[in-house]
Amino acid sequence: MTQSDRLLASTPERYTIFAQVLHWVIALLLCLQFILAWTMPDIGRGTVPERLINLHLSFGLLIIVVMALRLLWRVTHAVPAPPAGVPAWQAKSASLAHAALYVLLFVVPLLGWINASYRGWTVEFFGLFPLPALVAARGPANTGAILGPWSGDVHIWLSYALLTAIGLHVLGALYHRFILRDDVLGRMVPGA
Ligand code: HEM
Ligand code: HEM
Repeated sequence: MTQSDRLLASTPERYTIFAQVLHWVIALLLCLQFILAWTMPDIGRGTVPERLINLHLSFGLLIIVVMALRLLWRVTHAVPAPPAGVPAWQAKSASLAHAALYVLLFVVPLLGWINASYRGWTVEFFGLFPLPALVAARGPANTGAILGPWSGDVHIWLSYALLTAIGLHVLGALYHRFILRDDVLGRMVPGA
């Protein structure tokens, strides 16, 4: 029996408490992250990061850390199967949305980090310690920072793609809760 056979053979009824807590922690961090993004000062040439911008960088780094834990959980655990009667296209769309959320929740913050490095900012984790630059800072001839110039724009576009994916995901959850009235939402809620 392979590892994946073993996992499939024991498809659980619900997400574990660890997965549930991380799911809602990420949801909370993302709300905070978008509020910070929309309230922090506009970022342009020569902007020096202040308190709100630094918080945006720090919470973004925290999102990478929590997502790394989630990914580790995800590759070592089976997830509940779709309830009986759910059409294949809906189950497939839900899995696709989950995969897109995982990918975007690494790509978006990493592009932000790349852009911050390109701007020559020192990215710190809540002022505790500095992190390495991911690309060379903008030099007289943009030395080495191939990703730099467009990383800020792509960071912003993809954060809106992320919001769209979250919107569809939440609509799906509400459809299960209020139209189909099944237990899909309950299995992601601690103690439900
Ligand atoms: C999932 C995590 C993140 C989300 C959802 C997010 C979202 C956003 C959004 C919506 C903006 C546009 C703000 C505006 O309207 O002006 C923005 C800008 C920015 N973010 Fe993030 N961000 C995340 C993580 C990060 C991280 C980890 C860093 C750096 C360590 C970062 C650095 C930046 C920078 C430098 C900008 C300005 C980009 C530019 O205008 O060229 N972000 N972010
Ligand atoms: C706000 C940001 C959110 C993100 C990034 C997010 C992301 C995810 C991901 C990636 C999964 C798949 C779990 C896995 O396989 O590891 C998942 C599952 C789930 N999420 Fe969310 N979620 C968010 C918000 C919400 C909200 C607001 C609700 C409810 C209204 C919700 C309800 C669910 C449910 C019910 C599942 C389990 C689906 C199933 O069993 O197939 N999520 N979420």
